[in-house]
Amino acid sequence: MAKQQISLTVNGKAVEALVEPRTLLIHFLREELSLTGPHIGCDTSHCGACTVDLDGKSVKSCTVFAIQANGGEVTTIEGIAAPDGALHALQEGFREMHGLQCGFCTPGMITRAYRLLQENPRPTEAEIRMGISGNLCRCTGYQNIVKAIQYASAKLAGVPFEEAAE
Ligand code: FES
Ligand code: FES
Repeated sequence: MAKQQISLTVNGKAVEALVEPRTLLIHFLREELSLTGPHIGCDTSHCGACTVDLDGKSVKSCTVFAIQANGGEVTTIEGIAAPDGALHALQEGFREMHGLQCGFCTPGMITRAYRLLQENPRPTEAEIRMGISGNLCRCTGYQNIVKAIQYASAKLAGVPFEEAAE
């Protein structure tokens, strides 16, 4: 199949590549760019493990062709921390609040939460649960993921994090 030239920005870096039109964005990121943070959990748009940010929206990169990202800006979990390696408030929150177990969902979950907090910086618990409803976790029961996002929301807003009583 004839390859097509694409140009995009991935985690702040300009990328040029030749891709087959059928190449999915998740395969391009993982296999061509070695960005293996976004995972393939289901390949059918259900689990959210492959979530990345594309032009200011969360997308499931198993259901986007790489050529659809042509001219766009992609952020993966590898682009969430600061350039000096300092963890993003969400990464810190997931660590502090024990928001992960096996970690398979975590890159997609954090990347989704990163966009959620830009859409809605101080979400309620219900809004967090709705906001991450496209991302499945088989391990945690979600409670600590919600706390991790609340932690990050508070930190980014510069207010103390107060855990709700259970
Ligand atoms: S691998 Fe994309 S949604 Fe599951
Ligand atoms: S921590 Fe295992 S799938 Fe979420």
